[in-house]
Amino acid sequence: MTTAEIFRTPPALKAGEQQARSDILPAQKNSPRSDVEKIFRTPIFLAPMAGVTDTAFRVLVRELLDDDFAKKNLLMFSEMVSAAGVHYRNEKTLAMLETVKEERPTAIQIFGSDPSICAEAAAYVEERGSADVIDFNSGCPAPKIFKNAEGSALMKNPALLEKILSAVKKSVSLPVSVKIRLGVDANHINAVEVAKRAESAGVDFIAVHGRTREQFYSGAANWEEIARVKAAVKIPVIANGDVRDFDSLDKIFSTTRADAVMIGRAAQGNPWIINRLLKYFLTGEKISAPSRVERAEVMRRHLEKIIFYKGERVGVREMRAHAAWYTKGLTGGAELRNLFNRAESAEDFLKIIALMEE
Ligand SMILES: Cc1cc2nc3c(=O)[nH]c(=O)nc-3n(C[C@H](O)[C@H](O)[C@H](O)COP(=O)(O)O)c2cc1C
Repeated sequence: MTTAEIFRTPPALKAGEQQARSDILPAQKNSPRSDVEKIFRTPIFLAPMAGVTDTAFRVLVRELLDDDFAKKNLLMFSEMVSAAGVHYRNEKTLAMLETVKEERPTAIQIFGSDPSICAEAAAYVEERGSADVIDFNSGCPAPKIFKNAEGSALMKNPALLEKILSAVKKSVSLPVSVKIRLGVDANHINAVEVAKRAESAGVDFIAVHGRTREQFYSGAANWEEIARVKAAVKIPVIANGDVRDFDSLDKIFSTTRADAVMIGRAAQGNPWIINRLLKYFLTGEKISAPSRVERAEVMRRHLEKIIFYKGERVGVREMRAHAAWYTKGLTGGAELRNLFNRAESAEDFLKIIALMEE
């Protein structure tokens, strides 16, 4: 396929599934999709990941699901979106709020530290019809965010977090969730207290990443601490951290007794993992990992989608990071990554993908 053809071709490949950009649709307020009970019937969610879980990725993950109910109902989380950016109508921020009907239901995650700005942003997202759930970030460890008293810094200030969550909850009719860490560091583990405050703020469910802010992404996630949160609140709890295969899925469910799990890094370059884990959860069947050829085919679909939603220049640049993940552990992976890193166009990219199949 030539570059020109890629631009003309919408990303959904099957007949009847093609959508024009103008078909980006608002969801209906209070649609049945928003129903929390329904969300937890397919409890293997895609975690929010900045730079990864954009619309192209979310659509791809959903397309790869086999189960019809999951195709309609599985919840996926957006990249984090700045509430202040929404407040100031920052163009890039607003672009991140766009969702398409093929990806829904989607939880849009916002971050911030000012209750009224966060509430206003949540109301704006609901009004715009972009989301099925409003998620709030109380876990991001990045220094820029932390210094701004946002993300995981809110674990230090449960009273402020509760205020934000109450304000957000009051401003929307969609379900509201919050994603927390265990605390700021090993000496200040307070996930149980924070979860209880979130519950009293009216939050509908909670995701817990079993690490402290200080750990960033290192060390093993502490699932026992997630179990303590689960035992302390009545609302559904999503366990998160280090789930990457059937075994870890079994273990996190049995250790935490959580209502759902959330998959982060294991989905990078591996969008079919949600389908594999969900199928295992629902039926016990262990689908094997995709072959090299299947992997190449999914990369092509990913490339088409990312270019469709973001244009060729940005799409190709962002696809390089995904390509590095897709080729991790493959024979000849290092050579492929070198080539991908120099790809300037969709055409270059497709030629390198074809090499994967040789
Ligand atoms: C590249 C990257 C970006 C992330 N961005 C976000 C984000 O925007 N919001 C959020 O709540 N968590 C974010 N996270 C954290 C993940 O959602 C998840 O909590 C963490 O990776 C642990 O889960 P895992 O072991 O399954 O990866 C990010 C993680 C990674 C690796």
